[in-house]
Amino acid sequence: MAVKSKLKVYIFVGAVLLSTKMDADPIYLDYQASTPVDPRVLEPMLPYFTKECGNPHSTTHIYGIRAHKAIEKARNEVARVINAEPQEIIFTSGATEANNLAILGTSRALKEQGKSEIISVIIEHKSVLEPLKALEKEGFKILLLSVQKNGIIKIEDLKKALTPKTALVSVMAANNEIGVLQPIREIAKLSHEYGALFHTDAAQAFGKIALNVRKDQIDLLSLSGHKIYGPKGVGALFIRKGIPLIPISYGGGQEKGLRPGTVPTPLCVGLGKASKIAQEELSSESQRLLNLRNKLLDLLQKNLTEVVINGDLSKRLPGSLSLSFKGVDSHSLLSNLKGIAVSGGSACTSDRSDLSYVIRALPHDNNHPSAIIRLSIGRFTREEDIDKAAFEIISVVKSLRKKGLKGGSCSCQPPEIKEFK
Ligand SMILES: Cc1ncc(COP(=O)(O)O)c(C=O)c1O
Repeated sequence: MAVKSKLKVYIFVGAVLLSTKMDADPIYLDYQASTPVDPRVLEPMLPYFTKECGNPHSTTHIYGIRAHKAIEKARNEVARVINAEPQEIIFTSGATEANNLAILGTSRALKEQGKSEIISVIIEHKSVLEPLKALEKEGFKILLLSVQKNGIIKIEDLKKALTPKTALVSVMAANNEIGVLQPIREIAKLSHEYGALFHTDAAQAFGKIALNVRKDQIDLLSLSGHKIYGPKGVGALFIRKGIPLIPISYGGGQEKGLRPGTVPTPLCVGLGKASKIAQEELSSESQRLLNLRNKLLDLLQKNLTEVVINGDLSKRLPGSLSLSFKGVDSHSLLSNLKGIAVSGGSACTSDRSDLSYVIRALPHDNNHPSAIIRLSIGRFTREEDIDKAAFEIISVVKSLRKKGLKGGSCSCQPPEIKEFK
């Protein structure tokens, strides 16, 4: 079968598998939380669960040699997406571990050179904020930049926060809750002017927007398999050649001693294949997702009043939409949306104390009670799913507004680290 028609068959199979479930289950619109493994990714992984059982670090026989080769091929595929050298890619269990290794590893290494300050942002993922908290206990000074109403930091704030003692600046490429993109190239350039390293958590951005570690001047970049139609439990950290890093775990010396432990061949093969597909399809897929997102937003705005977009609309991931519906509470909205699977993450009451820390970080004009939902569209979302989703949201919001339901609760806590205004 020709390669192109084979691809079409795989995409069709993926869509059918999801749509078969949809007859009984809600339409999946939570691709920012996780993605299904693409059948084209699963296929090359399978032999490494069974027949190809060799330990990739035991290369005295053909099984180990084949596993080793498969891992190196995957390393190449991951590296190519961000214009890195394969030797600069370290496999991890996901973006959480990559973020921990990048932040703890480089900061501790740089402390030996007298650098003890770290700058990050108040809306970072917990897997960045929590290691920063740990470093604060070790004597580091942590500064968290606030964001503007559009979810983006002010470069002037970064300039004010940087000092010759800044070891590391860590700013996410795309936010997991509101999908907003930070100006990472500008941030990296400025950080380097002050002699600081630049790390970006690209768990949401890798494979979805163009990233080039050379042009963007990125020193460390974290990524995750399950956000790009690869398996859960695998990710990687790009570490630019020559960057000082102290490991955070110790063992058999695998991955240059930076991430010891037997490298999981099937998961790495899956991550490699998922990266390759994401790179090949990035421009066509991002345009398709953008069209679907625009259609969804258009339908909602034409049929409902007081729909607020959280974060900048143009500087965001193509498949991402975070919306507030005034006069409705999150709990009622989410529990009534039976036909679609979306993320809430943040209830909103009039005193705003129950908002998620990301939404709370966005300066708001008013304190109206609003329901907040994150809609994320992905590879297997079809146009009819968008029509159905819009219809459902419109009917539920209208009906709740008619009933005048307000209130709601959520236990999300803001980060407990000092904020730099
Ligand atoms: C921005 C961001 N960083 C880090 C992570 C953690 O990734 P993983 O599940 O691979 O550990 C996520 C996942 O939700 C994320 O969205």
